[in-house]
Amino acid sequence: MNEMNLRGRGLVKTYGTVHALAGVDIDLFQGERVAIMGPSGSGKSTLLHVLSGILRPDQGAVQLGSTTISELSDAKRSKLRRTAFGFVFQDGQLVPELTARENVAFPLLLSGVTRGQALKTAEMWLGRLGVESQARKRPGEMSGGQAQRVAIARALVHDPAVLFADEPTGALDQATGHEVMQVLTTTAKMNGTTLVVITHDAKVASWCDRMIEIRDGLIHYDGRVQHEGQNLGERHGLGEGQDQQ
Ligand SMILES: Nc1ncnc2c1ncn2[C@@H]1O[C@H](COP(=O)(O)OP(=O)(O)OP(=O)(O)O)[C@@H](O)[C@H]1O
Ligand SMILES: [Mg+2]
Repeated sequence: MNEMNLRGRGLVKTYGTVHALAGVDIDLFQGERVAIMGPSGSGKSTLLHVLSGILRPDQGAVQLGSTTISELSDAKRSKLRRTAFGFVFQDGQLVPELTARENVAFPLLLSGVTRGQALKTAEMWLGRLGVESQARKRPGEMSGGQAQRVAIARALVHDPAVLFADEPTGALDQATGHEVMQVLTTTAKMNGTTLVVITHDAKVASWCDRMIEIRDGLIHYDGRVQHEGQNLGERHGLGEGQDQQ
């Protein structure tokens, strides 16, 4: 088993009377690709925000390696998010005034890499995501699928330990969304990056190694994804979720 790199214990997040997270324990392992599924309002985005240090839990702790993220100051958590994590959201994340390669180079420029080196690395990542031809275009001149590939390149350019994606293909048509998700899951695997991706699409989950289903702020099912022609026989079902799949 790979090394554990992100751990949540007893995570609780409450909004008024809503238990967005009602006590979640979770371990994510190095290089693992995890799909988070579950109904609308079940707490998926809240879990992603708490694990990535965007939100502090009301109770419980999040650890990245030996660092307890949930205890860090806002400034330290924000620095950690920039260096250790990458994010891809549904849309609207690229800076419209910048070209694709400038958008991808941006996180490197922030961390002090020279402009020439940052643009070179950005172009290499655009190539890996299959959009090198878009390097000098601005987001408004690209298709939705191309823009999301650029956003993925930007999220990976600083080699994060964990890539968090919240419905990254939610605004794309199904065929384009599947293409982008295949590129995302394959690139994460090649790069050894831990991937946490929220999706409503069972097909997307099938390109991951593990599927976690959230219901009412709790983990309802957690198991290996059964790939066609494989019998991994290593499921860790919880409650009635055991009979699913
Ligand atoms: N900032 C907030 N203020 C108040 N309630 C919130 C806030 N954020 C989330 N909630 C509530 O917490 C619950 C979980 O929300 P969350 O966004 O995590 O759901 P989700 O599983 O991501 O849903 P979706 O699939 O629709 O994105 C919901 O009932 C939601 O209304
Ligand atoms: Mg959500």
